[in-house]
Amino acid sequence: MIEKIGTQGYETLSKPDSTVLRYLDLVMKSNDNPVYYEIGVGIGATTLPVAEKLNNKGKIILLSREHHVKELAEDLAERGFANIDSSMGNPLKTYSGYHFELAMGALEKKLPKFDLAYIDGGHVFHLDAPATCILKELCRPNAYMIFDDYNWSLAKSPTLRPSKRPDTLKEYDLRQIEACHVMMVCKIFMDVDSRFKFLGFENGSAIYQYCA
Ligand SMILES: C[S@@+](CC[C@H](N)C(=O)[O-])C[C@H]1O[C@@H](n2cnc3c(N)ncnc32)[C@H](O)[C@@H]1O
Repeated sequence: MIEKIGTQGYETLSKPDSTVLRYLDLVMKSNDNPVYYEIGVGIGATTLPVAEKLNNKGKIILLSREHHVKELAEDLAERGFANIDSSMGNPLKTYSGYHFELAMGALEKKLPKFDLAYIDGGHVFHLDAPATCILKELCRPNAYMIFDDYNWSLAKSPTLRPSKRPDTLKEYDLRQIEACHVMMVCKIFMDVDSRFKFLGFENGSAIYQYCA
């Protein structure tokens, strides 16, 4: 998986998220063993530098499609990283997703609390709303939640907009195509929750800190 980083066809997935890395540095100033969740791994462009920074300390919990999570965890294991939890990848079925893996994990009480969560999966409300509700309850003191692509919409997506992918019109109604789903999630679940402080936007991401 990580061999794809920087290669042709993977340009948009090859750049690590600098905001996530900056907040990880911040967390590591006061915590040697942080727990990091990444929701949606792509080809591991952010996971790899996160693993390098942590250098086998703390834990990296990956949620994404199971074959991606497995392949990425194997690549990272080959590089000597043994702190990766790859047990929560999801099957490729239409309605499978990290939202359901988180729900199962919550029911089984097996989800560790975290210091930093990077939510960068499907960016659609039906996945990210339940995922956010579950993640919100897993914050350690001062934990950060970073929501990528706050202004993303299906209409703006270069790959999913109806002119590129006609099935989008079958799967979503016009309001869903126009809406910025991550923004909706943040407004409905984060902005109204007094336990969280909105720290601002950075590179298109919205950043929150748990202050309860
Ligand atoms: C933008 S990429 C993530 C990029 C990565 N966080 C990085 O910084 O390099 C979005 C990821 O979300 C995953 N994803 C989208 N919908 C999903 C679903 N229903 N279940 C699991 N993963 C999903 C995609 O497969 C892809 O790996």
